[in-house]
Amino acid sequence: MMHPGRGAQLPKSFHIKSYGCQMNAYDGERMAETLLAQGLTAAARDEADLVVLNTCHIREKAREKVSSDIGRLRRPGGETPMIALAGCVAQAEGEEIARRSPSVSLVVGPQAYHRLPALVAKAARSGRAIDTDMPAVSKFEALPPRRRAGPSAFLTVQEGCDKFCTYCVVPYTRGAEASRPAPAILEEARALVDAGAREIVLLGQNVNGWRGADAEDRAIGLGGLITALDTIPGIERIRYTTSHPCDMTDDLIRAHGEVERLMPFLHLPVQSGSDRILKAMNRSHDVGSYSRTIARVRAVRSDIAISGDFITGFPGESDADFEATLGIVREIGYAQAYSFKYSARPGTPAAAMDHQIDPALMEERLRRLQMAIGETQKAFNQNVVGRRTAILVERPGKRPGQVIGRTPWMQSTHVESEAAMGDIIHVDILAAGPNSLAGRAAAVPSMEQAA
Ligand code: SAH
Ligand code: SF4
Ligand code: F3S
Repeated sequence: MMHPGRGAQLPKSFHIKSYGCQMNAYDGERMAETLLAQGLTAAARDEADLVVLNTCHIREKAREKVSSDIGRLRRPGGETPMIALAGCVAQAEGEEIARRSPSVSLVVGPQAYHRLPALVAKAARSGRAIDTDMPAVSKFEALPPRRRAGPSAFLTVQEGCDKFCTYCVVPYTRGAEASRPAPAILEEARALVDAGAREIVLLGQNVNGWRGADAEDRAIGLGGLITALDTIPGIERIRYTTSHPCDMTDDLIRAHGEVERLMPFLHLPVQSGSDRILKAMNRSHDVGSYSRTIARVRAVRSDIAISGDFITGFPGESDADFEATLGIVREIGYAQAYSFKYSARPGTPAAAMDHQIDPALMEERLRRLQMAIGETQKAFNQNVVGRRTAILVERPGKRPGQVIGRTPWMQSTHVESEAAMGDIIHVDILAAGPNSLAGRAAAVPSMEQAA
């Protein structure tokens, strides 16, 4: 399709690369649906007319990938595709990058991507389109309905963050906390089920900060929303991530005891085991309140798998502070956890703090922390060996005849089985490796859930 004026061509095919968290993966899916609805087709990176880099700003390492990927998109001898910068780097410094790299002609922030088709047309016309607005009206209402879903589907219900932890960029890149209304969420969940989803993973930067109203217009929290989702036929499993320790309300904890299809898994980042460091991080919880929250959840669901996030080498972290972090890992007994070296982010309060930690020490602490997490994870996995449970089959295994699915506790499990993607099958767990389980398909009807 030729355009008057500069004769620029509208892209006919696209490729989206998403970095970062699950919400970015969800945004990538929604951008793809938006472009498909416009008649574009999906293509490989080296062939697409339009390449969307859906970026992450959380740590310096994530940020660096963007620059190297922009460089890699230059096609020797061929035409460079239209490059669109999306996601959190686009929000934080997209304009500046577009100024420095002429090959980036489109910048779209996480709250503006429903306008992607119009921006693509503008960039094709004029060589440049930038939209990092955070409009008052939610983008969700402007997006096309869901048509594609795997067995496990993400669904964003809450976005943004008001917590302002001193190390973190998310409040600046995603904006203030906002909840989508319950009816829109339930409608999207039904569409995902129609498209083949059997598990719905509710997403939010602080997903347990979700607030809304039920059908009778009574105020509800995430526990109420989960209860409403539980009535939708076809949803077999419900999960949610990521939660903030200060928003673990009674209704959500109660849901863990009452809603059978709410999986026994809770990702609840603590970041550090030292109250002094938690205070400097502005986490608004301490080790005691965190542990008590976990105890309350375990009181209603004793087998729940606890997951976490940790940062080593936050400014001022002493040996004793770090030992306290190892202490909480062992006390909680994490089923899994993510751990990161502290990364100073431009504009955050922590980046300007005294006593930044030597990178070699950070690295050493990270290694020790990961060993401690590895031990609790191994113990948790070992605990299910010999038991019968159910997995949701999500993808083929490496070997022919093998499939991979997750247990209720999120453990990846390999089994020899003829089951189709999306089946929930019973398995006997035979062995536990560091990161996955091996099982044998059990001869019981595959429909009902065993947790
Ligand atoms: N809203 C979620 C997710 C935030 S980002 C939460 O509060 O947990 C995911 C994780 O990245 C954080 O939990 C934290 O452990 C880590 N992180 C965030 N900023 C970081 C930084 N500047 N350096 C290192 N890790 C960081
Ligand atoms: Fe970042 Fe803290 Fe908000 Fe999580 S709660 S997104 S770590 S500011
Ligand atoms: Fe990264 Fe933005 Fe997610 S900074 S972790 S993509 S919210």
